[in-house]
Amino acid sequence: MKLAIVGLQWGDEGKGKVVDYLARDFDYDVRFQGGSNAGHTVQYQGKKYIFHLIPCGLLNKNVIGVIGTGCVFDPAVFVGELGDLKTYDPDVEKRIKISKFAHLIMPYHVLLDKIREETTQGIGTTKRGIGNAYEDKYGRVGIRVGDLYYPEQFKEKLKANISRKNVILMEIYHAEPLSETEIYEQYMEYAEKLRPMIADETTILAGAVGKNIIFEGAQGSLLDIDFGTYPFVTSSHTIAGSVSIGCGLPSVCVEKVYGITKAYTTRVGLGPFPTENEDAMGKNLRDVGKEYGATTGRPRRCGPFDVEVVKYAARLSGVTEIVLTKFDVLGSLKTILVSIGYKNADGFDPFLASRLEPVYKEVPGFMTDISHIRKFVDLPAQAKDYVHLVEEYTNLKVKYISVGPDRDAMIKV
Ligand code: GDP
Ligand code: IMO
Ligand code: MG
Repeated sequence: MKLAIVGLQWGDEGKGKVVDYLARDFDYDVRFQGGSNAGHTVQYQGKKYIFHLIPCGLLNKNVIGVIGTGCVFDPAVFVGELGDLKTYDPDVEKRIKISKFAHLIMPYHVLLDKIREETTQGIGTTKRGIGNAYEDKYGRVGIRVGDLYYPEQFKEKLKANISRKNVILMEIYHAEPLSETEIYEQYMEYAEKLRPMIADETTILAGAVGKNIIFEGAQGSLLDIDFGTYPFVTSSHTIAGSVSIGCGLPSVCVEKVYGITKAYTTRVGLGPFPTENEDAMGKNLRDVGKEYGATTGRPRRCGPFDVEVVKYAARLSGVTEIVLTKFDVLGSLKTILVSIGYKNADGFDPFLASRLEPVYKEVPGFMTDISHIRKFVDLPAQAKDYVHLVEEYTNLKVKYISVGPDRDAMIKV
């Protein structure tokens, strides 16, 4: 089975939890886009793990994790994350492959992202240098993971980049220049640590005939560089079409796509959010759902489920089955609002996103703790009705329901 996991909202849908839950049946877990802007949280055996760059299926010891070509790779973040993960599995390095084709995030990317965010052009990024690294990739001046092993070539590329970036830093932002030597030495140290893990993942995956591969999406469909709420988006393609280009497999490589969606909606960072609720309901969802960013700790904006957003995202990735997450969080609401359409548009349109006026349906809440329930039949009637309502309005099948952060808090429908 070749299965892709994509988020159907603005990120943080619970992709990490779902990948960790399913990964026991997979041989490979492949990240195909994004970088350390991702924060995928997994709770297993009472412990919480937050993955940024490393594929989170690795808590399952049968899994080999691949960081693919479509990712942007920050070695400093990776080395830190690897150190943490080694307390779980000292041999985890043997199960990690990093694409030599992936572009490196350099200190100037992170610095320029931070500076830009703090000036008028800010869109609320994670300040991880993501957009800046992709800019250089598509501007054809980027430095790739594979360049680390040709020191002269690496030095030359670094020199050319540093001279340009330092002009920007000093002339435009009146900031201190960066030292080429320090960065060179630091990255050569990383190169030694990373060496056993660097690979051509296209060959490995092409050879994985008959193996099961899960493709772990990062961010959400509404943050896709083209189809999201541009310019309030990330700088990669987050929809399922990105899988093949992000790891060098043929375009038919994905057999099935599961869309992950919360039972309500959240967004972190700036940009339009039609069902945002700044009243008691939104506050309640934030408090009960612990809605704070896994990468930056920022409070997430919260609001009701938006049928049109999920339908739009599902169409883009060919999703027919969804995983409904954080369903337990709705257990705190007396009545639940669901946006079933817009007064002023037929469906979700990113160009109109800031002006869309949701039409809400109000349904009774279930006012019960459902986090211990593991069978659909055991859910309260109102909870079952909510699931059916989501299915009816989105025309998608709910395949799993997540009722808590732990791996086993899952209902197979
Ligand atoms: P991702 O980026 O899509 O992997 O999602 P995040 O990890 O950023 O955010 C999801 C948050 O919700 C994490 O803190 C998870 O531990 C938590 N979570 C996931 N599923 C559930 C669930 O069904 N119920 C509750 N209460 N929390 C959940
Ligand atoms: P996961 O994988 C939620 C958002 C940022 C900002 C915009 C651009 O955990 O779902 P960037 O740093 O990518 O240039 O920021 O995208 N963003 C996310 N929001 N979850 C994420 O990842 C995100 N990654 C980026 O908040 O609005
Ligand atoms: Mg997240």
